[in-house]
Amino acid sequence: MTRCVVVGGGAREHALAWGLSRHAEVVVTPGNAGIAAHGIACTPAPATELAADLVVIGPEQPLVEGLADELRARGVAVVGPGAAGARLEGSKAYLKEFLVAAGVPTAAHGTFHDLASASAHLRASAPPYVIKTDGLAAGKGVLVTDDLAVALDDVRAKLSGSAFGAAGSTVVIEEGLLGEECSLHFLCAGGRARLLAPAQDFKRVGDGDLGPNTGGMGAYAPMTSLSADQLGEARELIIEPTLAELARRGIDYRGVLYAGVMLTTSGVRLLEYNVRFGDPEAEVLVATVDGDLVELLSGVAQGHVVSGTAHAAGHAVTVVLAAHGYPGTPRLGDVIAGLGRDGQLASPIDGVVVFHAGTRRRADGSFVTAGGRVLAVTGSGPTLEEARRRAYAGAAAISFSGRVSRDDIAARVAS
Ligand code: AMP
Ligand code: GLY
Repeated sequence: MTRCVVVGGGAREHALAWGLSRHAEVVVTPGNAGIAAHGIACTPAPATELAADLVVIGPEQPLVEGLADELRARGVAVVGPGAAGARLEGSKAYLKEFLVAAGVPTAAHGTFHDLASASAHLRASAPPYVIKTDGLAAGKGVLVTDDLAVALDDVRAKLSGSAFGAAGSTVVIEEGLLGEECSLHFLCAGGRARLLAPAQDFKRVGDGDLGPNTGGMGAYAPMTSLSADQLGEARELIIEPTLAELARRGIDYRGVLYAGVMLTTSGVRLLEYNVRFGDPEAEVLVATVDGDLVELLSGVAQGHVVSGTAHAAGHAVTVVLAAHGYPGTPRLGDVIAGLGRDGQLASPIDGVVVFHAGTRRRADGSFVTAGGRVLAVTGSGPTLEEARRRAYAGAAAISFSGRVSRDDIAARVAS
């Protein structure tokens, strides 16, 4: 049996491990309490010390630090780009330079290191103002605002290092784009790309897309409102030139390339690349993957990807339950009611699986909150309506003090 190692410890890794464990033996490093309770082995040992036929690296940080290079140098098959490819996510300034060289349509931008020129640029621009830290900031380094004073304050905080430390010492200021957002995950290897089901992520903390940006409060897939023309445009104008530019730079990219795309009235625009599965998008993609995830991901690691679009098996909706205070400092240690000893619903609902993001288990077997995002309750079904109904039935069966969650995940499309 194939032995897979999944690197990471959030709901994305729980979903990947769960999907892989149907056809393989799976170990997660470091994993979390909910993954272990679900019967999937977790170990604190680093991936470099574990025997594996396939390693799937979940988060961006180890990719940016070169874990995939290190494992490949030891002859291990890995899903995830090396450090050179991971720069697409690791540095917003590098990403913009890459996109301009590749000719990929993206928001106009400027890169700034000092407050005076950044402020002057903002004053000369029209709202909405979009300000991004150069380095990694767990999805929280981006401010979009119509208020010039707020934008100026944000640039000051980022450049002074008080907001994000060294990750903020360079900022990218972008033209604000308007439209619907979409998460397109491409499995890339050998210069080819296979599109998984288009997904939509809900990034703002509050219903109606209000409040600050988060890591993601919920998602659904497939996003069927995308037209064949829009998908064709994304392939032709975004992914194909990106594959060509990667080849020109001598980067053998083997992993997931997640394009955050804005569907504007003048066509598709790339907002960002992530070099891994999205979280919570992975939860709905794993739940709708058609076929054997082990085979699919082994192909990526070995350089065999068939161009085209993967078929989605049914629909899925995931609802994130976050801790009191999220996306600010979360309160930890709140007791979670509604879960059984296996970390799943105490009273199971057909088609519902609970992926753990930030939970800890107490000696008596109960779970408490242990991170900003706590659980990703995922419902699957033959229709989006049914998947949504199940996800929310699952979410309603779980409670903890101060819980933060949205009631409108996939509401507009599923009603
Ligand atoms: P990013 O990490 O670059 O994807 O940015 C996080 C979020 O900020 C995106 O998902 C969008 O909702 C928003 N955003 C980023 N860039 C822009 C832009 N140029 N115009 C409007 N919204 C943006
Ligand atoms: N859901 C957004 C991300 O994973 O970056």
